[in-house]
Amino acid sequence: ARGTLADQLARPLRDLRISVTDRCNFRCVYCMPRAVFDKDYPFLPHSALLTFEEIERLARVFVAHGVDKIRLTGGEPLLRKDLERLIERLAALSTPDGRPLDLTLTTNGSLLERKARSLKDAGLTRVTVSLDALDDALFRRMNDADFAPSAVLDGIAAAQAVGLAPIKVNMVVKRGTNDGEIVPMARHFKGSGTVLRFIEYMDVGTSNGWNMAEVLPSADVVARIAEHFPLVPLEAHTPSETAQRWGYADGGGEIGVISSVTRAFCGTCTRARLSTEGKLYLCLFASGGHDLRALVRNGATDDEIATAIGRIWQAREDRYSQLRGSAAADAARSGNGPVEMSYIGG
Ligand code: GTP
Ligand code: 5AD
Ligand code: SF4
Ligand code: SF4
Repeated sequence: ARGTLADQLARPLRDLRISVTDRCNFRCVYCMPRAVFDKDYPFLPHSALLTFEEIERLARVFVAHGVDKIRLTGGEPLLRKDLERLIERLAALSTPDGRPLDLTLTTNGSLLERKARSLKDAGLTRVTVSLDALDDALFRRMNDADFAPSAVLDGIAAAQAVGLAPIKVNMVVKRGTNDGEIVPMARHFKGSGTVLRFIEYMDVGTSNGWNMAEVLPSADVVARIAEHFPLVPLEAHTPSETAQRWGYADGGGEIGVISSVTRAFCGTCTRARLSTEGKLYLCLFASGGHDLRALVRNGATDDEIATAIGRIWQAREDRYSQLRGSAAADAARSGNGPVEMSYIGG
């Protein structure tokens, strides 16, 4: 029954993040640097991808284990052909006590204007859109694929118009690159109903050349915004929320800060991640996953899959962000090294 499955740190399984493609039409400097993700990069072949039937089957088992929130990620999930057909299948699932799922998606927004209506009609609840700058030249430089911020803003407007709300916008902050955009972004989204969230630049994967000097702590983000617009702290919606919420004192809505570097939130992490090829990862920074596709393709029954997932979750002790910088964290990252963000999603 819901709530009985807990890991080694007493964390329940509540969120499933499903990556539906490892490809992306952007080459964000902090995620898929062009020098690494070039034409020779070994993206997954089509046969490796979980089919929609396989994803639905696994999702059903996760929901029976207590998952009530599913997020589709990528790469860029809207690049997956006929994604609406998968959304229809997942939207038909409900929790054991009959509640609908929170079914959402993280996108770079480039295809959102075109797809907002069909995503909504398929049963998607809401969307989270990544946007790192309003400045045209800077944004084009950061996505390194010459996409204009205006295209993303049009996508956000389309999502709003069809009711894929509340919309969240995620901005990864790199000190010295786009920290000058913090206040303009806050000003732009203030009072719009869209929740802007600032993410500390993280050391995910192995290819983005991360260094601490480029991390701007969330406390500084909040201070910079508060100089222009006074902020008041808000209570978390749920214990496992990634963002700390701040409200505009004048009632202009709220912002959030996601501080995985300066204020790790592993203690309440209820998130499991399913890769495009069906590996179950217990942490964003894990260097290996558990092959669920092999079970599915070798004829395991639903009960056998449920038992396997239960065992895997119960053994979980991942808490990389809390250990960051320690010997234990370095050990956890040895071996094949951690997976890329574009492979496992945000
Ligand atoms: P909401 O339910 O809409 O609040 O979504 P969310 O915060 O669970 O998901 P979202 O994809 O919007 O997450 C925002 C960003 O937070 C991601 O892109 C990651 O950068 C970061 N993030 C999300 N989950 C984790 C996590 O478990 N660990 C770490 N270290 N970072 C995470
Ligand atoms: N640090 C923080 N956030 C990242 N994302 C991708 N790479 C990083 C990183 N190195 C974010 C994107 C998007 C989500 C998919 O993950 O900006 O919001
Ligand atoms: Fe693509 Fe998102 Fe990575 Fe940017 S952050 S390269 S949009 S997957
Ligand atoms: Fe969860 Fe790992 Fe992120 Fe910690 S670092 S919050 S355990 S995904």
